[in-house]
Amino acid sequence: MTVKHFINTNDYSKEEIMKIVNLSLSLKKCIKAGYYPQLLKNKTLGMVFQQSSTRTRVSFETAMEQLGGHAQYLAPGQIQLGGHETLEDTSCVLSRLVDIVMARVDRHQSVVDLAKYASIPIINAMSDYNHPTQEIGDLITMIEHLPEGKRIEDCKVAFVGDATQVCASLGFISTKVGMRFAQFGPVGYQLSENHRNILEGNCKVSGGSFLISDNAEEALKDADFVYTDVWYGLYDAELSEEERLAIFYPKYQVTSELMKLAKPGAKFMHCLPASRNEEVTDEVIDSNVSIVFDEAENRLTAMRGLLVYFLGLDKPDAEKVTESKFELERLLAATFEPEKELVATF
Ligand code: CP
Repeated sequence: MTVKHFINTNDYSKEEIMKIVNLSLSLKKCIKAGYYPQLLKNKTLGMVFQQSSTRTRVSFETAMEQLGGHAQYLAPGQIQLGGHETLEDTSCVLSRLVDIVMARVDRHQSVVDLAKYASIPIINAMSDYNHPTQEIGDLITMIEHLPEGKRIEDCKVAFVGDATQVCASLGFISTKVGMRFAQFGPVGYQLSENHRNILEGNCKVSGGSFLISDNAEEALKDADFVYTDVWYGLYDAELSEEERLAIFYPKYQVTSELMKLAKPGAKFMHCLPASRNEEVTDEVIDSNVSIVFDEAENRLTAMRGLLVYFLGLDKPDAEKVTESKFELERLLAATFEPEKELVATF
């Protein structure tokens, strides 16, 4: 059977994405009600990190624990990952030791290569290209905060600022499900030609649309959700913080004034961590339209759904279980109680 990986939401149809979303929402409801379905009993998740993380690390580990499984934190620098050991070998070895792997990597090619050689599912937990688990959590959050009478397909989300991997990912998921997406960002820091081709392809299938502009009025017009991310990319060290600040501040800071360009009551979103009073003011992030902590909680919601979806349901072979249990009983008796006559106990 072919193993399914979760590297890029563009590898999946809207219907498949919505299956993951619905599974996530259903598991959230169960757990909120006090029922913890043990769907991941005896399963182990390997968590490979090349960078630090709060939300991704904690939500994956909590999800495994709540659903009866276990997670191993493989911190930055703790395991071989394309250093002393090739990525191919690491991938083959992890495939024998755990049931599923999530990897947060510096370079997208690393997670692609891990998946290429793995015989277990690999989940991309953020690369310099995209952040697909964040996408699922964000979609869930927007669905939970739909304006009255609207479907997700009727909504617009406007991203303010730099074309980070989170910006690209928001573009991917929103156009995948048929939303209107806009990036309001300075020329030179807008989504690339390659990104635009992907958004266009998604829109053709879903009926969504996209706009990339350095004009605040046109980008934020009618937006139901306004989203931003940090101005200092994790990967771009070409410019100093002062030089980047000069590019984005004050035009691209999300302030109460900027929020007024969106739909009245528009919600504010941020993947976090936030650099307060840089890309967003305290006044906005702490206001009653801010849904950033619901969004953070929905990282956990999404991880549960993703883990169950990609691990699938365990269906042990009853005949093989009986046979191996019988063999084990005989061997244990012969090893520890050789004086006893060997009799089957079942
Ligand atoms: N949003 C996000 O991925 O947060 P962490 O870096 O803390 O995991």
